[in-house]
Amino acid sequence: MRVLSGVQPSGTLHIGNYFGMMKPAIALQEQGEAFLFIANYHALTSVHEGGLLREMTRDVALDFLACGIDPERTAFYRQSDVPQVHELAWLLSVLTPMGLLERCHSFKDKTARGIAASHGLFAYPVLMAADILAVNATVVPVGRDQKQHVEVTRDLAMRFNHVFGVEVFVLPEPSIQETVAVVPGIDGQKMSKSYNNTIEIFGSGKPLKKRIMKVVTDSKELDDPKDPEGCNVFALYKLFADAEQQAELAERYRAGGMGYGHAKTALWELMEAYFEPMRERRLALERDPDFVEDVLRTGAKRASAVAEDVLGRAREAVGLV
Ligand code: ADP
Ligand code: TRP
Repeated sequence: MRVLSGVQPSGTLHIGNYFGMMKPAIALQEQGEAFLFIANYHALTSVHEGGLLREMTRDVALDFLACGIDPERTAFYRQSDVPQVHELAWLLSVLTPMGLLERCHSFKDKTARGIAASHGLFAYPVLMAADILAVNATVVPVGRDQKQHVEVTRDLAMRFNHVFGVEVFVLPEPSIQETVAVVPGIDGQKMSKSYNNTIEIFGSGKPLKKRIMKVVTDSKELDDPKDPEGCNVFALYKLFADAEQQAELAERYRAGGMGYGHAKTALWELMEAYFEPMRERRLALERDPDFVEDVLRTGAKRASAVAEDVLGRAREAVGLV
């Protein structure tokens, strides 16, 4: 099994990213060969400020290493340090029907949110397919919103193999954590940095508590019995709590006499404790930028070696060599 996932360095990571993508990706590194990259080319579809992109790329690197990426097991790299990805994007691009891209939801969603409708944004799924196929990943852990892009990738791999009559690419499978597929934001919609409804992974103390206190609930009074299902606070609490803690809080909801403020405080305490060791590791990593840079360079070398092998076969198949 070869696992690959990518994350855009286009904002501070939130617990939707953590449970939807980071945690499963980190867990999968135990099971097979793992590749994880910072999608800085992808981020250029919306970030046009060099200093900012560099800063956010660094932050994502720190976040992932702090949350448990083991650079010995996982090739962790910047997308731009593996140039074969771009070459492959072109080879796939010439086989990509316009209609396939026109059907992708993310382009419509992003332009509706005000991101410029550039060619790069439109062709984004092709670059994503190249990320995956350059290392012939078999499993791609992503949130549900990215599933369509993995389907596009399968389609393009199949086309390439068929058109050129050589099995250069394997067909990747998306791996979606169904139980936490959509983490709600403080407003109850999908948590997303574009909706300004996130709870950040590395928030702590008063600002974190303040944020959690903003999670929307219904307007039941303190004494009213409450339904844990469908409650945003409870949905978030479940992410951090073990089965016993979940059952206990559900019971307090149903019994009445507990206000949402109590549930939010319980959520805040659990979340603080959950991320505490990761916060400490992040502080240590911040003080060691050479180590972080070294990890990314070494990861890129490993990914490039695999990609060079795949690209060698692709170049030959299309007749470039
Ligand atoms: P955002 O919506 O904040 O812009 P991205 O689109 O950059 O997040 O997503 C990065 C990764 O995190 C993707 O694999 C995505 O599916 C996952 N993800 C993002 N938000 C959530 C969420 N609310 N619940 C589950 N997974 C999520
Ligand atoms: N498009 C993904 C996102 O916005 C990031 C990404 C780029 C990715 N290339 C990838 C994810 C390849 C998995 C595999 O979240």
